[in-house]
Amino acid sequence: MDYKQILSACEERKHLISMVSIEGILQIGYDLGMNENTTVLDLCCGNGEMLKLWSEAFGIRGTGIDQEQAFIETGKARVNTELVTLICGDVLTFDTLEKFDIVTCTELTTGVFDSFEKGIAFLEHFVKQNGTLVFGSLYLKKENPPHELIEFDGEMPTLAELWKTVKRLGYHFTSMATSTDAEWERYILSDAKAAIKHLRQKPDDEFAAWDDKWYRIYFEQRRAYEGWGLFAAVKV
Ligand SMILES: C[S@@+](CC[C@H](N)C(=O)[O-])C[C@H]1O[C@@H](n2cnc3c(N)ncnc32)[C@H](O)[C@@H]1O
Repeated sequence: MDYKQILSACEERKHLISMVSIEGILQIGYDLGMNENTTVLDLCCGNGEMLKLWSEAFGIRGTGIDQEQAFIETGKARVNTELVTLICGDVLTFDTLEKFDIVTCTELTTGVFDSFEKGIAFLEHFVKQNGTLVFGSLYLKKENPPHELIEFDGEMPTLAELWKTVKRLGYHFTSMATSTDAEWERYILSDAKAAIKHLRQKPDDEFAAWDDKWYRIYFEQRRAYEGWGLFAAVKV
């Protein structure tokens, strides 16, 4: 077994703030035919990990925007290539005359945009004609979710409803990578060490109540009902 490869994958995963696997991100890059001529814009890029992987694997040129200075700094320290530019800023005020082959955003259903449709329209502004949108979305794995889950995460489409919406907007899926339990486990536990430190100092404050809710909703509801996926789509 190649332990070095496994540990290197653990390090890459640590910098992803979503429930997609590295294999899924690379599969999408492969399916989209990414190469050294491909340009990618990543809106809400976090640490810029998707751009880093696509750049290292396929040689793409990428630009990433995120409002968290700490994520951008971490990303800049990790992305060891001039092919990837990471910018700190609000995507909603970002603009450029450049059009990209691929525009990606993991935040289509997390409240950054007023609606899924408005999010897609926002991404369209930056994509070349016949280019590809790659978006992240939560989805329901089964119908009739608990009311508390909808209060926690908002209304979510089933995969079939998501496909219908994408089709109604004139798009066809070209690639997708949906979450596994392992990716959710990584995401849910990513701040556990900091949480334990806090709980040891202040076991009964507002954070303790939030920590309790975060894990209870995951184990009781999210694990059974909620999926997350990265979807690539082109206009027909
Ligand atoms: C769940 S993380 C995903 C990060 C990254 N796409 C990934 O998959 O690792 C969501 C990111 O969206 C960023 N974000 C949210 N609203 C934003 C905005 N209006 N402008 C820029 N970044 C924003 C947050 O700072 C955070 O890094």
